[in-house]
Amino acid sequence: MIFFNEQSQTFVLKAANFDYRVKVINGYLAHEYSGKAVPDEDMAYRFAPNFAYSPADDSGDKLHFLNNLPLEYPCAGIGDFREPSLHILNKNGMTSNDLRYESHRIYAGKPKLKNLPATFANDDEADTVEIVLVDKPSGIEATLLYTAFKNLPVISRSARVKNIGEDSVTLLRALSLCLDIENTRLDMITLSGMWARECEVQRQPLKRGKHSVGSIMGKSSAEFNPFLAIVDRDATEETGEVFGFSFVYSGNWIGQAEVNHMDRARVVMGINPYDFAWKLDPGEAFQTPEVILNYSCEGIGKMSRQFHDLYRNHLIPKRWALTKRPVQLNNWEGTYFDFTMEKLLSIARVAAEVGVEMFVLDDGWFGKRDNDKSGLGDWFVNETKLLGGIKHLADEINAMGLKFGLWFEPEMVNPDSDLYRAHPDWCIHVPERIHSQSRNQLVLDFSRGDVRKHIYGMIKDVLSSANIEYVKWDMNRTLSEVGSAAAASGRQRETWHRFVLGVYEMMERLTSDFPELLLENCSSGGGRFDPGMLFYSPQIWASDDSDAIERVKIQHGHSLVYPVSTLGSHVSAVPNHQVGRVTPLKTRGHVALMGAFGYELDASQFTNEEKEQVRAQIEEYHRYCHLPRTGDLYRLGNPFEEMYDAWVFVSKDKNEAILQYIQILARPSCAPRIIKLKGLDPDKTYKIEQTGQVLSGAALMNAGIYQHLTGDFESSLLRLTTI
Ligand code: DGJ
Repeated sequence: MIFFNEQSQTFVLKAANFDYRVKVINGYLAHEYSGKAVPDEDMAYRFAPNFAYSPADDSGDKLHFLNNLPLEYPCAGIGDFREPSLHILNKNGMTSNDLRYESHRIYAGKPKLKNLPATFANDDEADTVEIVLVDKPSGIEATLLYTAFKNLPVISRSARVKNIGEDSVTLLRALSLCLDIENTRLDMITLSGMWARECEVQRQPLKRGKHSVGSIMGKSSAEFNPFLAIVDRDATEETGEVFGFSFVYSGNWIGQAEVNHMDRARVVMGINPYDFAWKLDPGEAFQTPEVILNYSCEGIGKMSRQFHDLYRNHLIPKRWALTKRPVQLNNWEGTYFDFTMEKLLSIARVAAEVGVEMFVLDDGWFGKRDNDKSGLGDWFVNETKLLGGIKHLADEINAMGLKFGLWFEPEMVNPDSDLYRAHPDWCIHVPERIHSQSRNQLVLDFSRGDVRKHIYGMIKDVLSSANIEYVKWDMNRTLSEVGSAAAASGRQRETWHRFVLGVYEMMERLTSDFPELLLENCSSGGGRFDPGMLFYSPQIWASDDSDAIERVKIQHGHSLVYPVSTLGSHVSAVPNHQVGRVTPLKTRGHVALMGAFGYELDASQFTNEEKEQVRAQIEEYHRYCHLPRTGDLYRLGNPFEEMYDAWVFVSKDKNEAILQYIQILARPSCAPRIIKLKGLDPDKTYKIEQTGQVLSGAALMNAGIYQHLTGDFESSLLRLTTI
């Protein structure tokens, strides 16, 4: 529910047990309160301690007022010296702006954001308020969009900045969210990593100064996932106040908490202002991507479960929201580039025999592509390598009872390719500078419609030529020397964002033209694992590190924000290709079961015993996968600090649960570990299928159960059902 209290000039946004209040003070839009629901009463007293000074425009000390006011969308250059949301180069070459409240509109539902991915909701699931602020001298109108979800403590925010004047202006920054949080003892949690080490959980105390994360790599990045949480210093998985911020965007971004000298924390999030500029001619508007603000007064675990519900029901394509995903076998780690038609078919035959449901052909099937030095951009099958072509392969695979999927890297081109030789200016580049390569490739200029059209045409031809039911869309480098041969000099700094918009447009076309297609994103693993991508693809390959023990941490970190059903997770061969570790097949299966499950190896090498084990694993997947996919996740361990991890997924009706326990290193002379379950119904009685033990929910949660495994990298999976 959202309403405007005329008397107190306050907007009251009520999400499920989460209130967000915004007040108009002397025309400024200020943040009054966010937290647990409170009755509708005048809370103007909350501003008093911050202002020893009069808010009036002609007051002799206006700057003190502005520098303390918790503004909802602060502008640069008028006396608020904290991080601004908006910074505009006006026609006079000057940059100060001053937005004041003009009007508002409240309505049911949630609008689509032009050309951008965003969460969606029906009219009975959310309400929206658009608050219009105007800076008359600059001719700028900023419309702040807030949507309050009725069944979740979640508010989404974005802004639309329009030039309503008669001269062109240039946006130097247009962030999506600003939220000033009260003076308390706070920590900041971020997800940091790099290739093969994505989403390590970092937690640090917030002290005075700026604590900034983000990306200037042209993609959301593995270095920092586009997320941060501001939590009570004492917050745990179950207790404490938590504000989670997640950015629905796949390019350069910034997330920052700034603690000022009054010990207030200003959190901002949006497109990174680094090298960003966007020219707005009269009448034009710029829409920022949206930030999801997720509130929990019961700790970090609840924040995660709310993100999971939101992203499962209001972000990933509806077609896949609750749909069971086919068990896939991807040939990448099994063959890399070294395969023939017969080799692929021999792998697929065994895959079909053990119960795999989809065969995915990864990199190396097109152009002149026997290694990573050539071929990207030439999206036609290499018939010398794949005798009979993609249609023949897909038909053969289908005849085995398997679906067929294919890998592409649409945004890239190798200098050694027919495409590059024909169109050297189609890559992102700065003339007269070296075109820096990474993995021997350059980035195509997807800010250009002609480039997108050509690439999309080739991809569409391949997808229309055979029964291809899955696409893995990869992206294996960052952006450098960013410039576009098609853009005017005054618009070059738009290229970063236009590139991301171009990628979104391609994904929109692909998923509209092939509505049944299962799209899986990937960027050297989790280099672009973000909500923007999840809007198009319901699963993303979470990491190129397929080692089960490394994956425990990687999947744990991702689970802070992302439902595990969105994490591509495969069983691979041992010794593991990334770390050389040998782990039991059982453990590899258990870890992969907590994601979009599959295999990534040469199945034709399976021994008979391995075939039996894999068959059993796939049966386990079919019996249990609805719990990770639709249930509530409770994290019971912390692999960043301890030698084990444990998770329990509980069905929404609490009648069923699955407990996964992974031991990292074994230790001698230790008592068995006690795992206290969470999320069960204390009054119900549960039977553990594998041990026959019968215990109440209360006993399972308060007294716990013992786990005592012998050996490194061992695991257990227990299913509990009510009796
Ligand atoms: C990087 C991906 O993360 C891998 O899974 C694989 O698809 C390779 N690219 C192929 O080049």
